[in-house]
Amino acid sequence: MKILAVTSEAFPLAKTGGLGDAVSGMARALHAAPGASVQILMPAYRGVLDRLPGAREVARFTDLPGGPARLMRAPCAALGGVPVLLLQNDALYDRDHLYVDRDGREYLDNPLRFGALAHAALHIAAGRTRLDRPDIVHAHDWHAGLVPLLLRDAGLHDVKSVLTLHNMAFQGVYDMEWAESLGIDDKYLTWDGAEFWGKLSFMKAGLRYADRITTVSYTYAREILTERFGCGLQGLLAARQHELLPVPNGIDAREWDPATDPHLGIYRYHAGDMANKAHNKRELQRGYGLNLDADAPLLIMGSRLTHQKMADLALHAVQRALDDHPELQVAVLGQGERGLEQEFQRLPHRYPGRCGVRIGFDEDAAHKLHAGGDMLLHGSRFEPFGLTPLYAMRYGTIPIGSRVGGMADTIVDLGAAAGRDAMRGATGVLFDGETVDAMAAAITRTLGLYRRPEIWRAMQHKAMAADFSWERAAPLYMTLYRSIQPDRVAAES
Ligand code: ADP
Ligand code: GLC
Repeated sequence: MKILAVTSEAFPLAKTGGLGDAVSGMARALHAAPGASVQILMPAYRGVLDRLPGAREVARFTDLPGGPARLMRAPCAALGGVPVLLLQNDALYDRDHLYVDRDGREYLDNPLRFGALAHAALHIAAGRTRLDRPDIVHAHDWHAGLVPLLLRDAGLHDVKSVLTLHNMAFQGVYDMEWAESLGIDDKYLTWDGAEFWGKLSFMKAGLRYADRITTVSYTYAREILTERFGCGLQGLLAARQHELLPVPNGIDAREWDPATDPHLGIYRYHAGDMANKAHNKRELQRGYGLNLDADAPLLIMGSRLTHQKMADLALHAVQRALDDHPELQVAVLGQGERGLEQEFQRLPHRYPGRCGVRIGFDEDAAHKLHAGGDMLLHGSRFEPFGLTPLYAMRYGTIPIGSRVGGMADTIVDLGAAAGRDAMRGATGVLFDGETVDAMAAAITRTLGLYRRPEIWRAMQHKAMAADFSWERAAPLYMTLYRSIQPDRVAAES
């Protein structure tokens, strides 16, 4: 089965969040799965080609939106040898950031940038390059949303498409005027096509025309059928319910393993010997300007500082917790909405030695944060999957999450009423709703558990032992691909 994954991110080549991790983890696992041959197609953003030594030109395109482009290909060692196809058009992709300019404004030509990516996928699928034609084109999020529409338009019935929804909140909705330069026929610009409130929606194009739609968790698959989580597309999703299915993400258990993590230097550790976790905590305290106190519970936050991630509520919940619990310390690593970044940066002055904040996006710092913390605060108004709490769990850092999306599926909270013995089976703490009160109460409850070392250690062990590796998810994708495989693949096998 030949699979072409079309994406805007793949770690470590390009990443702004969980999408990059998820696509890479999935591709690596599929690459190792029997009967699968997977390639990733993504833009050659600035510097990415340098990280793919030996990349060779495999195609030239003269008719893509946004101008001529080349396709460069090489196996990526950092991805376990998965072949990567980079679409190179420096006018479109050679820029400071992936999606936004230095001031955080979306690039105005994003429709062209991701429209070009979709057309490149079409050329490959149609056999207009010397690459093998894929059997399945797997599109990720809105950036690849035009792919299913273009395949349909080209009448390519022997190539099937899957669209995975990593986040419905980002949809790629643009003025209709773009349609012509993106080569989208008028017949698709209706309510029953890719039109969304008078505009062109990349996400809707994908949802409407993909052969199958997947979500990255069970709960999110149900949630998006409701008005609250469906972002205006719940009607279309309901109509396609029979082709919509959840395939939960995994985590890259090699990349995120405290026993082998190079980011931890000599202070690696495992569930059988946690002594080095205390060293990581001390380093974290030092790095964030916190008092060097081994006993102080250290709450970490490591995520986008945005409305989705309840950063607005966390700002207040954290202060309330710091006021209510004099022993508590807080370390924040994040980047996001400017106003929230500024508010968070005020906290260390208000709580000297007890709260440290680092604004920026730093992979190394994220690993150290997960290793050094005692507990992770990860509120979300919606969470399609939520990799961060699982990374925390693997590092013995207990997650405090909202009971939505993937977190409702992956974090085991046995509830305040559970007895001491039952709590040993828990891996975290969940809270309901979107209030500062609920979040602050969850922190208080977690601190109560922290004060009971025997329960805490049992929770840590349980959390560290939980298996969310991609190896579990890859067979699910293979089953899905087989269920829609084109006739020619069935004939070959
Ligand atoms: P989302 O994709 O919605 O942001 P996830 O929890 O699934 O949420 O994935 C977030 C990913 O981004 C994780 O790999 C996390 O470590 C990373 N991340 C988020 N913020 C930062 C940051 N400031 N620095 C480094 N990594 C970050
Ligand atoms: C999105 C979601 C996140 C998910 C990630 C990978 O960014 O917000 O919940 O874990 O994609 O699928």
